[in-house]
Parts: sequence; structure tokens; C-alpha cells
Amino acid sequence: MTHKIDRSTLAVHLVDHPLVQHKLTLMRCKEESTSGFRQLLREISLLLAYEVTRDLPMTTREIETPLAAVEAPVLAGKKLCFVSILRAGNGLLDGMLDLLPSARVGHIGLYRDPETLVAVEYYYKVPQDIGGRLVIVVDPMLATANSSIAAVHRLKQGGAKNMKFVCLLAAPEGIKAFNEAHPDVELYTAAIDEHLDDHGYIVPGLGDAGDRIYGTK
Ligand code: PRP
Ligand code: URA
Repeated sequence: MTHKIDRSTLAVHLVDHPLVQHKLTLMRCKEESTSGFRQLLREISLLLAYEVTRDLPMTTREIETPLAAVEAPVLAGKKLCFVSILRAGNGLLDGMLDLLPSARVGHIGLYRDPETLVAVEYYYKVPQDIGGRLVIVVDPMLATANSSIAAVHRLKQGGAKNMKFVCLLAAPEGIKAFNEAHPDVELYTAAIDEHLDDHGYIVPGLGDAGDRIYGTK
């Protein structure tokens, strides 16, 4: 029996911009080609990056335009750090780096055990000074949230203090579990789907994100 979750209790930023929704619909279509899927994900990731960086701290710098000197706004503090959950996270990372080319980058390799759905870590490499940076963790899919919860837990162990998590699609079950495990980490998603199936896949979803980005199935 599926237990319906009251969506109004979920703490999540829903990025429902028309361009995001249109591109996401194209990505969901099973006929979409590998190259089309990858390109659409890259385009959406720019729009998600725009939203998740909306409240970055600012300062000013004196510059000279051809006409006058002016105190003009610039980003303050250390450059932020993206952390991609391999392998599908790289599909979001690439577009975000187009927008923020000097961001630092970390990687966490995790795969879901197909039987237990538990996240298994196989790689971890992040900048040493991660504790002093805003860390934006990216992975297109938040299903059970086992992978995202484990990734954020690992980053906290590694010293990260200020984190946000960005995905493309989330299941209500996953959002609830993530909120409970990490209430201090803000979540951003382009859509909240219906539910998870018996294999932990998001329905209606878009299938296996890694396979669709890299054409492995
Ligand atoms: C997918 C996806 C997430 C995870 C989400 O990765 O990219 O990391 O599943 O599921 P969860 O919320 O239930 O943990 P997958 O394990 O298929 O690995 P891949 O990216 O290497 O294909
Ligand atoms: N991982 C995916 O790639 N897709 C899902 O629907 C669930 C987990």
C-alpha cells in the first residue's frame, strides 16, 4: 500500500520556471536521444544554478567604467564548491560550471545496491578547505534519498558546514527522508513526482538518469 505524503509539509524549493518545466518534459520522453537528453540537462542545470545561487553574499568593488568610477557589486567570500555525486551528478555539474567557471569541484562516487537500495561509496575527493565554502551538492535524482543523505553525511564528516542540495526530480518519500536526516540543508528540485515503485524508481520519472546521460542501456 502506498502511503500518501502531505506535500505541504515538505521543505523544498520547487523551481517551476516554464523553461525548466518544458525542457524537463522533453527529457522524460523515452524517445529522447542520448545527446538530446544530455543537452537538455545541461541547459536546465544553468537555470537551477541561477536559483540556488540567488542569495549568495555580495560586496562591492571600485571600478572605472569609460565614464566614471563606481562602487559596483561583486560576489563576496571564498568561491563556492560543487560536489557531484557520480556518475549522474556530472550531468548537472557541467552546466553549472558554465555559469560559475571558477567554482571548486568535489566528487563522491556512490551507487545504489539494486537489492537493498543502500548507497555504497567507491570514491571521495573534495577540496581540503571545504569547511569555509558554500557547498552545492548535485545529483539529478532524489529517489529514496539514500544516496543524497549518505553524501551529505560524508561531507559533514569531511568538514562541510554550509550546504545546499540540487536535483532535477524528487520523490515525496525522498524529500521527507532527506528533510529528516539533514534539516539544515536546503533542497532544490525542478519537480516532485508521484511516488517510488517497488525497485526504488521515481514514477513517472525519467528512468535511470546515469544510463540516459551516458547511453549505457
Ligand atoms: C542514481 C542517482 C542517484 C541515486 C538516487 O544513481 O543518480 O545517485 O540513484 O537514488 P536514491 O535516492 O534512492 O539513493 P545510481 O545509483 O543509479 O548510480 P549512477 O549515477 O552511477 O548510475
Ligand atoms: N535513480 C535513477 O536514476 N532514477 C530513478 O528513478 C531512481 C534512482
